[in-house]
Amino acid sequence: MTRRAMHCFTLLAAGLLLFSAPALAQSGDPLRGEALFVGTISFSNGGAPCLACHAIAGHELGYASGASYGPDLTALFADYGEEGVVGVLEDLSFESMNAIYSERPLTEAEQADLVAFFSSVSQGETAHTGLALALHTAMATVFFLVLIGLLGWRRLQGVRKPLVERTRYGKGEIA
Ligand code: HEC
Repeated sequence: MTRRAMHCFTLLAAGLLLFSAPALAQSGDPLRGEALFVGTISFSNGGAPCLACHAIAGHELGYASGASYGPDLTALFADYGEEGVVGVLEDLSFESMNAIYSERPLTEAEQADLVAFFSSVSQGETAHTGLALALHTAMATVFFLVLIGLLGWRRLQGVRKPLVERTRYGKGEIA
């Protein structure tokens, strides 16, 4: 590798690190957040899963089985904003929850995952619609590729055919 290439490479790597590091540090995993909320993954300090008391009707969670001791949290992110949600999750110091979570606080990673989950709920995204969207995109891509392929083929035919005919019938000159 030449010196210049080395410099370019180092700069590029540094730039990538600089831009990706804060994003990596901040972003929780919404799917993990959902699993924690529902209880399929346990909180590491032993707190109860939120779904025991809260529904998220907008996400089709808990509303049918009647988890309605605490308020529905569909609009949580919209109401509180990201900072508000972060603040609430830090200690969950509401009367009814304090008894559980003051002794069994959520870890920072768990809080970040829950924030990401509440954010995705407010955007109406679910794992399922995410998958459906991916499928749609894939289908649309295939559709357009086929379309472009067909159009391209016809255009090619349009150019090729007269040439072939001209050669075949001995009329080499261009009209
Ligand atoms: C034991 C039942 C219970 C559990 C478990 C529970 N909550 Fe609550 N939560 C409540 C109640 C009840 C309220 C209403 C405020 C009050 O009475 O203290 C509430 C309020 C809230 C609020 C404020 C809602 C608003 O609109 O102001 C948030 C946010 C919240 N809970 C999040 C959570 C999260 C996240 C979890 C899981 C880590 C959780 N809760 C677990 C019972 C619970």
